[in-house]
Amino acid sequence: RLLIVDFGSQVTQLIARRLRELNVYCEIHPFHDVTDAFLDEFAPQAAILSGGPASVTATGSPRAPQRLFEMGIPLFGICYGQQAMTIQLGGHVEAGHHAEFGRAFVAPAPGHKGDGIFAGLFQDGREEVWMSHGDRVTTLAPGFEVIGTSPGAPYAMIADEARRFYAVQFHPEVHHTPHGRQMLENFVRLAGFTGDWTMASYRNDAIARIRQQVGDAKVICGLSGGVDSSVAAVLIHEAIGDQLTCVFVDHGLLRQGEADEVVAMFRDHYNIPLIHADEQSLFLGALTGVSDPEVKRKTIGRLFIEVFQKHAAEVGGARFLAQGTLYPDVIESVSVSGGPSVTIKSHHNVGGLPEKMGLKLVEPLRELFKDEVRALGRELGLPASFIGRHPFPGPGLAIRCPGEITPEKLDILRKADAVFIDQIRKHGLYDDIWQAFVAILPVKTVGVMGDGRTYDFACALRAVTSVDGMTADYYPFSHQFLGETATRIINEVRGINRVTYDITSKPPGTIEWE
Ligand code: XMP
Repeated sequence: RLLIVDFGSQVTQLIARRLRELNVYCEIHPFHDVTDAFLDEFAPQAAILSGGPASVTATGSPRAPQRLFEMGIPLFGICYGQQAMTIQLGGHVEAGHHAEFGRAFVAPAPGHKGDGIFAGLFQDGREEVWMSHGDRVTTLAPGFEVIGTSPGAPYAMIADEARRFYAVQFHPEVHHTPHGRQMLENFVRLAGFTGDWTMASYRNDAIARIRQQVGDAKVICGLSGGVDSSVAAVLIHEAIGDQLTCVFVDHGLLRQGEADEVVAMFRDHYNIPLIHADEQSLFLGALTGVSDPEVKRKTIGRLFIEVFQKHAAEVGGARFLAQGTLYPDVIESVSVSGGPSVTIKSHHNVGGLPEKMGLKLVEPLRELFKDEVRALGRELGLPASFIGRHPFPGPGLAIRCPGEITPEKLDILRKADAVFIDQIRKHGLYDDIWQAFVAILPVKTVGVMGDGRTYDFACALRAVTSVDGMTADYYPFSHQFLGETATRIINEVRGINRVTYDITSKPPGTIEWE
């Protein structure tokens, strides 16, 4: 297995992701956990030293244990990792004045076409790379030679072939370095990895880790019916069976048929112990008269915690709380001073609950990206229709109903949403779209249907493409699709007489309306 020593770069997880794509098993460990004893126990077959925010020239800045350089294994230093390697092996790094951010081109050093991990590069005479550094190497450590240089980094690519130590100043793990993947692949091949690790192996490893963490304790899991918590629940159930109990809170803000679908799948299909907490009147009661978006969110969050706590008490003696936290939810993986300090986007977290209840977290997906969670879900045999589901926010339809929420509006919204999604499926567009839904607007407009006047709600269709939900663009439906959908909604849903299409991107808009 391969060790990634994390010096705290924002993109360390991308290294792991690229390696998983190459079917190589790796683990990320923060530099301060990588002690000599750790190395002996972990026995890495190769290691990558990540980038990081510190300057190697600062006193007390992070280092890898010297032992890492004496293990006889191939090493690959990236950005800060290159600089740490250089200093620790006897070279020199200079601080400041050499900042280089963004795209740069690396040219081969005289006499070097590139070998080892640089094999196959420089086909066009130079390599496009993504730089992000303030310091740079100024004297190579003994044994190293320069393979490539950029205007800002005379030692952009360096190698000590005899020891199989390689290092680069740029970031091969990001998409903006087109041949970065090639370098990582070259590295793992020369380190002897055949690429036989798969999602099936991930599943087995994750199961072993869950068993080890949990022992014979009980675990509760808040199930939203979304892909992430569902995959986490099925995985954990596979690991510890009925030590797991799921709590599904129906706050009355779910989509049409959603509660039945989720309960049927978990209770009937998977046989996972499930508490179905029907709390519709509690939530809708508390939301009566509330129209401010933040008050809505906070009310829902507070009630969710209360309800969850009440039902979790029925499980009795649970010591762990399971969550389907994904990597993009983990804002920061390493803070250089204090070690891994993890903050999760507040809207994804059952805020404050673990501490309040004295629970520890089980988060088996926290290293994965959404598409990898879907692959794991397929591996676990979750139905394809479930795995491909669009994300659905915790506060549910409440944030798709600007203004006051009423049972009447929710009913109209559910029906309109079902028609829109049906249209999208019928046209084979569902999987091309990140998320699609209807928002019911707090405004009634005049229409004419048959020979009569109508005075009904207007609604907005929202459909976006996105990679991670952080940025998004509206989906370019054909006019014919939009026209057909508007007609269907107005004909099939009583209470709506006007349909609009929201063509705002994110930013400046957000995906949800509130
Ligand atoms: P926005 O509206 O911020 O949404 O562009 C980005 C993504 O996050 C989802 N979202 C939420 N998910 N709890 C959640 O679990 C929430 O409170 C929440 N708010 C937004 C949204 O559906 C989109 O996928």
